Amino acid sequence: MQGKIILICDLLVKYGGVAPKMAEEAHSQVIDQVVQEALDKAYMTEKDLTAVAVSIGPGLSLCLREKFLLSVTHSSVHVLHNAVGVQKARRIAGGFNLPIIGIHHMEAHALVARLIEKDLQFPFMALLISGGHNLLILARDLGQYIQLGTTIDDAIGEAYDKSAKWLGLDLSRSGGPAIEELAREGNAKSVNFSIPMRQHKDCNFSYAGLKTQVRLAIESKKIDAKIPISSASYEDRLSRADIAASFQRIAVLHLEERCERAIEWALKMEPSIKHLVVSGGVASNQYVRARLDTVVKKNGLQLVCPPPWLCTDNGVMVAWTGIEHFRVGRYDPPPPAEDPEDYQYDIRPRWPLGEEYAEGRSEARSVRTARIHPSLTSLIQASLQQ
Ligand code: KG4
Ligand code: ZN
Repeated sequence: MQGKIILICDLLVKYGGVAPKMAEEAHSQVIDQVVQEALDKAYMTEKDLTAVAVSIGPGLSLCLREKFLLSVTHSSVHVLHNAVGVQKARRIAGGFNLPIIGIHHMEAHALVARLIEKDLQFPFMALLISGGHNLLILARDLGQYIQLGTTIDDAIGEAYDKSAKWLGLDLSRSGGPAIEELAREGNAKSVNFSIPMRQHKDCNFSYAGLKTQVRLAIESKKIDAKIPISSASYEDRLSRADIAASFQRIAVLHLEERCERAIEWALKMEPSIKHLVVSGGVASNQYVRARLDTVVKKNGLQLVCPPPWLCTDNGVMVAWTGIEHFRVGRYDPPPPAEDPEDYQYDIRPRWPLGEEYAEGRSEARSVRTARIHPSLTSLIQASLQQ
């Protein structure tokens, strides 16, 4: 692999209210520029690439953000058509006769930890916390994952984002960092929120109820989100800070409780586990890191957190995951130079990482199996048996 680089484009799918077909042409042009910029920054051309990796799921495909990245330099861009990123990746791969690797977005959040922590060997555990996903997994080997827990409704990042919005915070860097900052000024025990799902002795998560509790607390304190925090009175600011701190304490306690149980389960299956990786946007939060570090140490494990810029969505994680799979020969042959016009891109909105741990199946979770793509782990196992 020495000297060889993988060009990636990371596709992140988000709900949005904009017609997906809108300005497809313009989006393609932006992507061309971003890829060119990344290549220029790396003093490379497409001819220097070894393979192309592109994230193909999971996520809902109405509106999306896409990121392009080359090696360690990166740029990002918002585009609104889901096929644009995959199409671009296929064009480069096809045009330059390069293998292509379809990447699972959440696997990439977990595996990027192996880029920065060279001692991180399989098996290990991972808690993946972002805007759309909450996952606790046991990574037994590359591509071999057991899902210990997932969210039954909202992910923790969604709860941070909505709480920040209702508290009238500055959302320019997303809600999470705004809550984290304001929470430092508040009393985390001042508002009595209840910890979700205590009666369910599993590792699943729920944040919808906590979100509602936050909304009710805001209403009862008569906080007006239309008044931005920067213009709020001292008392008003303090009561917003109290809610932020109390929300954060309970949101993270929920993570702590689930991790504690998951460690117990995982060690039963794989007693040699030494690490718990915490990654995804919410893992850039210092309070989250500190609290989970305590839980992990108490159980004789070590916490591995990628630096914040590798926790939030980024292209490096997709490139790195591409490299991991490429090294073991897991890639698709170069696509044709030009896809037919009616070509259906392989995009997987509902794509589990692995099978659920049997003991962990929650009655609280209504598993909708319709249109779920076979898990990454089952696909890899099937290909190994061929
Ligand atoms: O992984 P990510 O960048 O994108 C998704 O795949 O969703 O995660 C984005 C989420 C957002 O909800 C954002 O508010 C949250 O991560 N986030 C944080 C922090 N930084 C980002 N949440 C809490 N504290 C932070 N410092
Ligand atoms: Zn993500």
